[in-house]
Amino acid sequence: MHTMQPIIAQNLSKTYKLGKKGHTRTAVDSLNIEVPEGVIFGFLGPNGAGKTTTIKMILDFVRPTRGSVTVYGKPTDDPNTRRMIGYLPEQPYFHKFLKPIEVLSMHAGLAGVDKRDSKKRAMACLERAGIAEYAEVPISKLSKGLTQRVGLAQAIIGDPKLLILDEPTSGLDPIGRRHVRDLLLELRNDGKTIFLSSHLLSEIENVCDIVAVMKSGTLVALGAPDAVRNNNSQIVVQTIAIDDETRDRLKFIGVCVERNRDNTLLKIDPRNIYEVMRAMEELNLPITKIETQRESLEEAFLRLAA
Ligand SMILES: Nc1ncnc2c1ncn2[C@@H]1O[C@H](COP(=O)(O)OP(=O)(O)OP(=O)(O)O)[C@@H](O)[C@H]1O
Ligand SMILES: [Mg+2]
Repeated sequence: MHTMQPIIAQNLSKTYKLGKKGHTRTAVDSLNIEVPEGVIFGFLGPNGAGKTTTIKMILDFVRPTRGSVTVYGKPTDDPNTRRMIGYLPEQPYFHKFLKPIEVLSMHAGLAGVDKRDSKKRAMACLERAGIAEYAEVPISKLSKGLTQRVGLAQAIIGDPKLLILDEPTSGLDPIGRRHVRDLLLELRNDGKTIFLSSHLLSEIENVCDIVAVMKSGTLVALGAPDAVRNNNSQIVVQTIAIDDETRDRLKFIGVCVERNRDNTLLKIDPRNIYEVMRAMEELNLPITKIETQRESLEEAFLRLAA
């Protein structure tokens, strides 16, 4: 049913007041999105794009200036909606002297898990988050990534229908990211809906069913990753190392320039190829390799967020 979608935002907007002089900043501007049941929804965008502000409005931590957002058809301040949501904040914070198992058992209690089962449930969630071996280590002694995983375990402890994860992989190493990726797929297979924000795309690319790309508070792309990626393949030409001036000239004609230690990759829209080849000839740049490539989500992100 349409109104039972996990999240529907309509013209959702937030303008923050800055200082006393009447200065304002629009963090989110007329956002319209619908998150269907049972999908992994990637909410992407560079720093300051408005991802966390949107998440805070979904959780009723921040009130919209305009527009509205509903969770399973109910306003965000409905006490019943909160119980359906598991939330991982951008910077999870826990009492330093507590151990993960204690934090988790406490949250299990808050989520209504029977006291006799809370420790078992806590341990299971720590295991799912890949930190079972740290269950008894005080939080103050955990690294950033391990603390983030405690946050992840905490988010799933109440077995919520909807998970809202603000940058779930930002502090994690490649193994941790892979682990979280697998966990997200597992949760989705269990029928959960996952709304996650990120600016790290390589891991996200393969798990999201839908992505929304934000730029300065505005939605600039929405759809399946395949639809958001530019499906026209691009031509990648390798040449020698170049100086700033040459880079600027190439950028000016729409080339995406990637400088490496001893070569340069030029990513070219096939429609521009003649112009770029002429410029390369003029600049005396040899072609050392040439291939075609499909745009990755990361490249789409750079293109859309630029
Ligand atoms: N409490 C606040 N008061 C004033 N401005 C704020 C406040 N919170 C966020 N902003 C501003 O709103 C804009 C969006 O911030 P937000 O935290 O939503 O971005 P984000 O997409 O989560 O970024 P990041 O990737 O860095 O976490 C930024 O310009 C930010 O400085
Ligand atoms: Mg943020």
